[in-house]
Amino acid sequence: MKNTWRFGELELNYLREVLDSGFGSGTSGSMNNRFETAFAEKVGAKYAVTFNSGTSTLHAALDAVGVGYGDEVITAPLTVISNLDVILAQNAVPVFADVDPDTFNIDPEDVARKITPRTKAIMPISLYGLSCDLDPLMALGQQHGIPVINDAAEAFGTLYKGRRIAEIADVTSYSTENSKHITTGDGGIVVTNDEATANRMRKFGSLGYAALKATDGRIRSNKDIFQDPTYKRHDAYGHNYRMPEVAAALGLAQTERMEWFLDIRAQISQLYLDAAKEAPYLVPQYVPEGYNNTYWTVVFRYERDDVSWQDYRQKVVEFGGDGIYAAWALLYHETIMTSGAWKTRCPPLYADLDFPVAGTCPVAETLQPKLMQFVNNYGSLEEAEPKVEALRRTIEYFA
Ligand SMILES: Cc1ncc(COP(=O)(O)O)c(C=O)c1O
Repeated sequence: MKNTWRFGELELNYLREVLDSGFGSGTSGSMNNRFETAFAEKVGAKYAVTFNSGTSTLHAALDAVGVGYGDEVITAPLTVISNLDVILAQNAVPVFADVDPDTFNIDPEDVARKITPRTKAIMPISLYGLSCDLDPLMALGQQHGIPVINDAAEAFGTLYKGRRIAEIADVTSYSTENSKHITTGDGGIVVTNDEATANRMRKFGSLGYAALKATDGRIRSNKDIFQDPTYKRHDAYGHNYRMPEVAAALGLAQTERMEWFLDIRAQISQLYLDAAKEAPYLVPQYVPEGYNNTYWTVVFRYERDDVSWQDYRQKVVEFGGDGIYAAWALLYHETIMTSGAWKTRCPPLYADLDFPVAGTCPVAETLQPKLMQFVNNYGSLEEAEPKVEALRRTIEYFA
């Protein structure tokens, strides 16, 4: 098998169990339940629900906390398009709060300024593996009766002031897409300590089957009842966002091996961080006291005017590195927003709404073009070493 550090015997064993059982759907087998139970325990939450992506988890979370037509959802603009898409999918209104220039995470003071009577959820992101500042966000949520949905797609193993982040927010959402710390190929898993919220999320992700429970995605029912023509299956609105059993088999194995994945990423990240100590213009994402950073990717703010971002990246490539990824364009800078195409999702609601490309979130606007993300998703220090060496040589070259 190629990439054996990523998928090994454990994954194969669980996959074989699924195939041998003859059950492939998330409503029929038990691998999803096993993955959910193991994951919930690992991250410190009572309930976990698997999904087919870390976008559908967020969609279900918004729906479960009651976000609907015309409600405002506060999120950061420095993130993947998913956070915007799910707000639009609910016919809700995106409200962008600015970010902190050092942690790159949402600024709770700006969130406070943006709360209105129509705010129905706060959806911060724990960006790149570093927790958002949960205490003030939770305090705001409690003060105004607004749930906090922490998008921890990139933040497996992340601690906030010594606590596992999933113990804190109302809902915490993870992605198991291919680049994440643990992966099911594509997929997501969302956790909460509230049974009703878990139940609503599960129903939203599985066609609103009445038989679903917060702790069980299988649709088990007495055959005499289920086969009867009068049987009514659905008591809620839902999509089909289920995770297949084969993916859940990978998820269970990867959850059991999570510490290994966290550890290797941390070690590789440290190599980059050590290399960058020679270059004061590469300012690493700031990790406040009591936090950890589990480094989905290693990110620096590039503070140099005499060498362009692109020229710097080019040198890293020439020296054998995997290049440098830029951060996503800010959500309101994406073409779907600037072209107005997003307004077709709900013309009566969005017609008069605009997000100026300059001035909506000034800190994020200055920060985004400076960010440099380095790949740390390798299976060993030996594999990572030449990539880090490319950075060292680039630093020397531009000394
Ligand atoms: C911060 C963040 N939120 C949400 C997502 C969406 O996850 P997915 O790609 O599994 O839909 C991702 C990953 O792509 C992400 O990085």
